[in-house]
Amino acid sequence: MDPLRNPFSPGAGSRPPELAGREDIVSAANVALGRVVMGRSAQSQIFLGLRGTGKTVLLNEVLEIAERSNYLTSFIETPENKSLTEMLYPQMRQVLRKLSNLEAAKQSARSAFRVLRSFASTFKIAIGDVEIGIDPELGTADSGNLEIDLAEIFEAVGNAAKSAGKGWALLIDEVQYLDDEELSAVIVAVHRMSQRNLPVMVFAGGLPQVAKLSGDAKSYAERLFVYPEIGALDASAAREAIQKPLRSEGVDIIPEALDVVINKTGGYPFFLQEWGHHAWNTASQSPITLDDVNKASQKALERLDSGFFRVRLDRLTRAEIDYVKAMAVLGRGPYKVNDVAQALGMEPKALGPRRASIIKKGMIYAPSYGDIDFTVPLFDDFLRRTRF
Ligand SMILES: Nc1ncnc2c1ncn2[C@@H]1O[C@H](COP(=O)(O)OP(=O)(O)O)[C@@H](O)[C@H]1O
Ligand SMILES: [Mg+2]
Repeated sequence: MDPLRNPFSPGAGSRPPELAGREDIVSAANVALGRVVMGRSAQSQIFLGLRGTGKTVLLNEVLEIAERSNYLTSFIETPENKSLTEMLYPQMRQVLRKLSNLEAAKQSARSAFRVLRSFASTFKIAIGDVEIGIDPELGTADSGNLEIDLAEIFEAVGNAAKSAGKGWALLIDEVQYLDDEELSAVIVAVHRMSQRNLPVMVFAGGLPQVAKLSGDAKSYAERLFVYPEIGALDASAAREAIQKPLRSEGVDIIPEALDVVINKTGGYPFFLQEWGHHAWNTASQSPITLDDVNKASQKALERLDSGFFRVRLDRLTRAEIDYVKAMAVLGRGPYKVNDVAQALGMEPKALGPRRASIIKKGMIYAPSYGDIDFTVPLFDDFLRRTRF
């Protein structure tokens, strides 16, 4: 059918034609944002899930809700090689600039700018023209200890937002790339916001690794955040994800064909978009048949093997590929670290650094102590069907 009218949207962070199965998560975020900007309490949230489950899409949804709920918003994606402070600084500056245009927040935004200035010089962040004339606030956000200073700058921004009757929502994607010190600092800062009753919320998204938090940050983290699990869609939501966009284009799919899509994709959002996309392009007319879907499956897999899966594999060294291959040969995950070591004929300890490096690259994660699994759904199938 006409590719111009294809409603599906495979791709990282692309808004799906139908945000299926996430009603509860969206409405909980809505309530939490609404409460906090009114001065009531609610927990910040970290969306945890594998690649392609829709975390970035949800963060964007939350961003829109926040904007409608009287928040100023900042969205950062944690890069692998840049510090949190560098990413946050321009975002906080922009929020303060907006606030300083509001009469009610002029004063507090100005003092927050001074705190931001000392934060920037403490963490050696290059500053913009605006701040050159601003004196740093001595003794605030300049200890050099990120846990202390981040809480202080958050407090300054939170106060400025509050004086304008607004909130500040900070969205952090790929949160697993924050280092331990940064993650602890964010948690301590969120704790400060809730203690001071400031209208600041953090929503984050990341891979479901076991948080390596320690000390205060750890005990706060359990109470301060909720961790909605973003997984595969259940069968009925997965059906909706395919059927609704088709219907709005006046197209049907026969039930057996839809079953195959649900089955092959495991209900994973990214794969649903990919299958929907190919099924549409393959079919010559409505309804989409079983034969269309079978052909589409072939194409979808080819595209995943040379794209989504391949690019991830290409980031691994030869030894790391041997490691993940040994996992896949064991079947479906999660895998015991000891079993993988045995399959490779090595001591688990000796493989520690290799495993850590693959985890750092975001390919595998530890769902619980002594276990390991892939961060990309269906990656084990890919490794089993592909020769290297
Ligand atoms: N609830 C959903 N229903 C249908 N498709 C979805 C849903 N959530 C996400 N998608 C699709 O899944 C793909 C991956 O979404 P993304 O947010 O990038 O995942 P993640 O950030 O978890 O890796 C995108 O193509 C998106 O359109
Ligand atoms: Mg994402």
